[in-house]
Formats: sequence, structure tokens, C-alpha cells
Amino acid sequence: MVKFTVIGGNASEDLARKIARRLKAVYVKTGNRVFPDGESKITIKKIPRNSIVLVVQSTYPPVDTNLLHLLSVISKVRKYSSKIYAIIPYMGYARQDREFLEGEVVSISVIGKLLRAVGTKKIITVDIHSKTALRELKIPAENITAISELVKFFKKKKLKNPLIVSPDSGGEQRANQFANLMNIESIALKKHRNRKTGKINILTSKVNVKDRDVILVDDMISTGGSIIKSTQFLKKQKCKRVFVACTHALLVNNAESRIKKAGVAEIISTNTIPRNTSKVDVGKIISDAIL
Ligand code: R5P
Repeated sequence: MVKFTVIGGNASEDLARKIARRLKAVYVKTGNRVFPDGESKITIKKIPRNSIVLVVQSTYPPVDTNLLHLLSVISKVRKYSSKIYAIIPYMGYARQDREFLEGEVVSISVIGKLLRAVGTKKIITVDIHSKTALRELKIPAENITAISELVKFFKKKKLKNPLIVSPDSGGEQRANQFANLMNIESIALKKHRNRKTGKINILTSKVNVKDRDVILVDDMISTGGSIIKSTQFLKKQKCKRVFVACTHALLVNNAESRIKKAGVAEIISTNTIPRNTSKVDVGKIISDAIL
């Protein structure tokens, strides 16, 4: 029988415990004391020896601090175990997967270099923003999807003639997959984001959503701009209720209240990032991918 040790990074303790329970693995806690100058003092409560070590740590904000915690834990543990997997349920920097404007650093490829340098043998992540980002990591990496788990949640809801909507064409395939599992239709809006100012506009002019419940499906919500603009557009088109299903709810600043103010009835996300909206657990799909 394979002997696993799960180390819970400070950003993903609850999820790490869930994964450890499912795998019947030893659970090890980490400590993170932040000094007044912002530096972290990271500790591992009990160093695992000769087991497959799974370090669970999402890299949501504070992104760089959480990333350093992950890198530090792996770097320490590599002296005692040769098989270390980084379980990064939410992979920060995945949107920086190419040089969009001249001079931009492809940060996700830097993250890959750092993870390789400290001794990461494999990465498991959930609904990474793009396949390009996954490739740029240049480590054996598995991307699992939480769509089926989100769908299970929505199947229990009473919805009126529901329609799945992607806020942009980049999410069309995801919305399609969601809709197929719900056995309903999907559409994708056309969105434009100004790369310099971040301003978002919906370019679609008309959709047929009158009196229908809509589920906006996205991989992540950051500032909420994409969801707010899409909701305002759909409301103008006289849809009934708007629900949001996403894997990663970053919800930076006051995104949650702004989204609600725009008229969204409910935001449902997973626990890749622990938030009030995290009603769907990814512990099972991650554990299944490990076994
Ligand atoms: C974009 O391609 C992504 O799938 C999300 O739609 C986007 O990153 C969400 O960001 P925000 O909430 O800031 O609009």
C-alpha cells in the first residue's frame, strides 16, 4: 500500500485535511508567522520521511506569499522524500501565460522554473485558466475539472428553462461541457477587455433569454468585471434570475457585493479558494486523481 503524507499549506488547510482523510494519509500542518517587515517564517510541524508527499497549497492572494510558502515547504521536504507532488487547486499567474504586450514576462513559466528548482515531481491543479499555462510549467502536470461537481449542485436547483452562458468566447467550451452535463443549451457572449486599462465591454447585441434562468459559467471571478457586465447585459435582455458557477472565486476587493448589486441571485464556487461562496468540494476529485 502506498504511503502518503499530506502537508496542508496555510492557504488550503481545510481542503488538505479533506484530501488526507480520503487518502487515509498522515496529515501534517504548517506554520506561517509573518514578521512586521512582511517576511514569513515557515515551519513544518513534523517532517515526513520516505513517503509520497502531497503539498496542498492554492496560490490565491496574497499570491506571492502563498507561492513562497509552497516553494519553501517543498524545498525543505525534498531532503527526506524523493516524490513530492504539488497540489495547487487554484494556480495563480495562469492568466499570464503569454507575452500579450511587448516586454511582458510570462510569469507562469517562471513559476514552473521555481517549482522544478525546489524539487516538485508532479503538479495537480483544478481548472487551470489555459492549456498554454499548463504546458508552460514544464513539469508533468494534471489538470482536473470541477465542472461535474458544480453541475451536481445545480441539478438540485429548481430552474426555469435554464440556459448556460459563458461571459466570453474563451469559456465557450467550458460552458458547453457544463450544458451537456445538464442536458440543456449554452451560448457564449463576446467580451472585450482593454489590455491597458482592464475595462470590459460586452460586444454581443442581442440574445434570446426572456424569462429564462441563466447560469453564467466561468473558471474564475477576480474583480467581478466580467460577471457584472454580463449580468447587466442579460438583465437588459429580460432574463429571469442570474446564477454564477465558477471554480475559483478570488472575489478581490468588494467583488461579491458588486456582483450581488448587479442582480446576481447566487454565486456558487468550489473550495479551491475558501470563500462564503464555496459550496462545492473538490476534495474527492483531487483524491481520485492521486489514487
Ligand atoms: C477570463 O478569460 C477569465 O476566464 C475570467 O473571465 C476573468 O479572468 C475574470 O476576471 P474578472 O472577474 O476580473 O473580470
